[in-house]
Amino acid sequence: MKVGGKYYRTIYPVGGGQSVEVIDQRRLPHEFALVRLASLDDAVRAIADMIVRGAPLIGATGAYGMALALKADAATAALEEARRRLVATRPTAVTLRWAVDEVVAAVAPLPVGERAAAAFRCAAELCDEDVAACAAIGEYGKRLLAELAKQHPGRPLNVLTHCNAGWLATVDYGTALAPVYKAHDAGMPIHVWVDETRPRNQGASLTAWELGQHGVPHTVIADNAGGHLMQHGRVDVCIVGSDRTTATGDVCNKIGTYLKALAARDCSVPFYAALTGATIDWEITDGVAQIPIEERSPDEVRWVAGRTAGGEQVAVNVLPEGSPAQNPGFDVTPARLVTGIITERGVCPATAEGLRRLFPEV
Ligand code: MRU
Repeated sequence: MKVGGKYYRTIYPVGGGQSVEVIDQRRLPHEFALVRLASLDDAVRAIADMIVRGAPLIGATGAYGMALALKADAATAALEEARRRLVATRPTAVTLRWAVDEVVAAVAPLPVGERAAAAFRCAAELCDEDVAACAAIGEYGKRLLAELAKQHPGRPLNVLTHCNAGWLATVDYGTALAPVYKAHDAGMPIHVWVDETRPRNQGASLTAWELGQHGVPHTVIADNAGGHLMQHGRVDVCIVGSDRTTATGDVCNKIGTYLKALAARDCSVPFYAALTGATIDWEITDGVAQIPIEERSPDEVRWVAGRTAGGEQVAVNVLPEGSPAQNPGFDVTPARLVTGIITERGVCPATAEGLRRLFPEV
């Protein structure tokens, strides 16, 4: 996607292919800054500190992190240590483990001297695959949005999304936002309700920013406003991303997604998850019981970052001294609340049969 007229992916090789550059997402929306990752340590820090975030981008960074590690030491012990450190950074998004394991499988059979170059090639291929998958999600999702728009002639289609599952969360295009971009580019009138997504405000800071860059009409709402808007017919469809999806269609996504799905069901608003096949954990069938939910620092609840009227980037404390806080990063929306899943292979019901039909080879 374009920033200030220039095409960017969220991660790309630089320095003769020996390093990668990423967008520092902690600084958005007020500053667009690029960060160079040149080592395994850099990649681990980028994922853990959320310089990069979003399941597919975390996976891409993990894959390049393996390549950066092997550049320094390609012995089998180093390979295993790099895998361990990268996978430990964020436990919920299964794409990270998947991408790192793809690199391990590609390089482990090779002589040590060939491993680093092969890892860089593998990471680049995974990035290209993610871009193609997200573009395909966009096409399938656009058709779905066009069908829904027929039910609401003469006005823009109102889409509600949670967190950021746009191009910043992937290598390009996004998952939940790819259909929005494709529909908008095709001339369909569309408007997005953007949940702010406390505590880190990925909606307010990232989704609103990227929609604005692309000229998509949108409105940021407090996290708790969605149910009210649905009750009053002001949301036509919800589309969210996923960090891990069970083989049975349970969808794990940013904390607060479940509450939106409950409200959507109560108000008969269709609720879709858009995700690439790499986000499906085929080994599990019960998301609530089996998906590890990342517990992040309570400081993310306590401190809110922003920019003052004078332009200074600051963090302010919004809690009373001494009040404890807790910060689960994700929740699980059971398949029964999900109208359908939009993937790079098409749209299916959120069921084991639906997913298997699209991915028969797994
Ligand atoms: O904690 P984050 O910002 O990495 O969480 C991101 C999300 O929950 C996204 O909705 C999810 O990764 C889907 S991204 C295409």
